[in-house]
Amino acid sequence: MSTTTTTTVVEEPKDRTFGARFETKGLIEFDENTVYGDWRDEFHKYGCVVIKGVISPERAKYYADKQIQWLKNFELGFDENNPETWTAEHLPVSFKGGMYFAYASTHEKMAWEARTEPKVVEVFEKLWGTKELLCSFDGMNISMPNRKDLNWSPWPHCDQNPERKGMQAVQGLLNYAPNGPKDGGLMLMKGSAKLFNEFFAHKRESADHEDAPPPEIKYMDLFLFSEKDIKWFESRGCEMVKVNMEPGDFVLWDSRTMHYARLPEGEQIRHVQYICMTPKKYANEEALAAKKECFEKWIGTTHWPHCNIRPAEDKPMRDGKLCPKYRSEPFEKPEITDQVLRLAGVKDY
Ligand SMILES: [Fe+2]
Repeated sequence: MSTTTTTTVVEEPKDRTFGARFETKGLIEFDENTVYGDWRDEFHKYGCVVIKGVISPERAKYYADKQIQWLKNFELGFDENNPETWTAEHLPVSFKGGMYFAYASTHEKMAWEARTEPKVVEVFEKLWGTKELLCSFDGMNISMPNRKDLNWSPWPHCDQNPERKGMQAVQGLLNYAPNGPKDGGLMLMKGSAKLFNEFFAHKRESADHEDAPPPEIKYMDLFLFSEKDIKWFESRGCEMVKVNMEPGDFVLWDSRTMHYARLPEGEQIRHVQYICMTPKKYANEEALAAKKECFEKWIGTTHWPHCNIRPAEDKPMRDGKLCPKYRSEPFEKPEITDQVLRLAGVKDY
């Protein structure tokens, strides 16, 4: 296993990305012939894998209940038992009908408890072969099924800028509620990570979509795929799969993988925490300083733990005005342990 990487240092970006890095190959070059005898074999083959029972069903229910309580803390009339209240006016402001990054939600006690679940940390320790990890301050997803107030269309994307080559990050999602075929959730283009370079050798522009990043923001990592792009991957043997999971399961995907979250259509509310960790040794001083500031001010980030730190400073807007329920501190602050400080990049290993 080689750990050398080529880095291009770029000047300070104008869109507040700290520690931006444009690598020419993966953080770690994994030997294709290695047989691990566990989930890593499937992960390295397809770029994604579901890991069963990373936390117990009881623990998953604890987190799902915590997420419901978090929605109720805003006192907007949300009632988990009354679908009439499953509308924007009764919920805090979210992205894509259920992803929460604002209101200091990324630093709620429940988010840090999930990030420090022993078997969650163990997944990333095994994956990267080190115990010295950094964690992103990523969001959660609480999606109500069959919402009448949402116009939604699939938005297949990957969360790695085409200029960053190789496996630079592996995203994770801890699932808290039963998640079957009708319950919405993660869609993955299985096998697409390995075709990343080939695809982007001829493709440059993100698909036309309301969420497409403006062309001047070259540091942004969201790349949106078109119908034609989907067919390109499918014609090379990739398959779009709906990931079904039980409470307590965890899914990992290489950030080069095309994916999106489908809205639930059954009866079940979707409950998820996004979690991503990478080795600390790849972080530079600028990235660590940005993480420290985010941590101390309860600001979220994207999924990147060690580089490309983009503070999630967009305020929640309601009808063109700041949401009256805007807050800059968690309802329930996390317990600040050495482990939390180390994963946040604030304390040395
Ligand atoms: Fe994504």
